[in-house]
Amino acid sequence: MILPHPTTQLQAVATLAATRAGQHVMANLHRRLDANMVARDDIKHKLDVEAQEVALATIAAAFPHHAILAEESEHDALDHDTCTWIVDPIDGTVNFFHGLPIWCCSVAVQYQRQILVGAVVVPEMQLTFEATCDGPARCNGRTIQVSQTTDLKMAMLATGADRSTPGPYTFAFMRQVAEIAQRPRILGAAALDICLVASGKLDGYVETGIYLWDVAAASLILQRAGGTFEVLKQYPNYRMSVIATNGQIHDQCRSQIMPLFNEVFATT
Ligand code: IPD
Ligand code: CA
Repeated sequence: MILPHPTTQLQAVATLAATRAGQHVMANLHRRLDANMVARDDIKHKLDVEAQEVALATIAAAFPHHAILAEESEHDALDHDTCTWIVDPIDGTVNFFHGLPIWCCSVAVQYQRQILVGAVVVPEMQLTFEATCDGPARCNGRTIQVSQTTDLKMAMLATGADRSTPGPYTFAFMRQVAEIAQRPRILGAAALDICLVASGKLDGYVETGIYLWDVAAASLILQRAGGTFEVLKQYPNYRMSVIATNGQIHDQCRSQIMPLFNEVFATT
């Protein structure tokens, strides 16, 4: 594939956009409860919208003719021959609302169905994860790698406990993750979960329902750190079921959770 721009140029803007979005949120930490909508399964925060505006302004200043797919905007169909910036201004909004520092800002560029660059900035933890499709994954400038765990029974697996998965499956799925792993975890920010797999702190992450903007940047960071990212099923409006692992436990993880996934799929 002939790249439309040097990946270093795209990466610099992706990291800047995510950093500035995070800085805006950090400057407004006193507004943690300032949400437009609070429900059991989701929170729409005013800072989601504001941080997205900050990120999009940064992108538009550098690449005014590129396309945008952003969580807080209308979601048009992707034109795969145009560079598309995929933006999640706050991943982990519910955590943020409660004061838990596990939230992040995620920016990726996709072109011809491939993620070219990704940046995930975790402001309260002072972590910046980055990758280009032709370079290593990094955290705060240092190269990162996935864990060497080979036995699923000894793996730390994260999941999302997504409430919109139908019927009893959210909790059946959590239980299955708990049974197959050494320890299950629900951290609450998919992009950070996957970056933690990329940096060897978790061995895998599985999710029945997640959006492209939650995982686009982190999926590239994981793959460039030696891990495996697999979309199990795609749904309308950029929603999908995914497994993200260190690679070594991928097949074990897949075979242990597929029977349950198949039941979920049969109902969706
Ligand atoms: C959510 C987080 C969470 C995952 C949910 C996502 P948001 O993203 O990534 O970990 O379990 O499915 O929707 O709404 O905070 O951007
Ligand atoms: Ca979000």
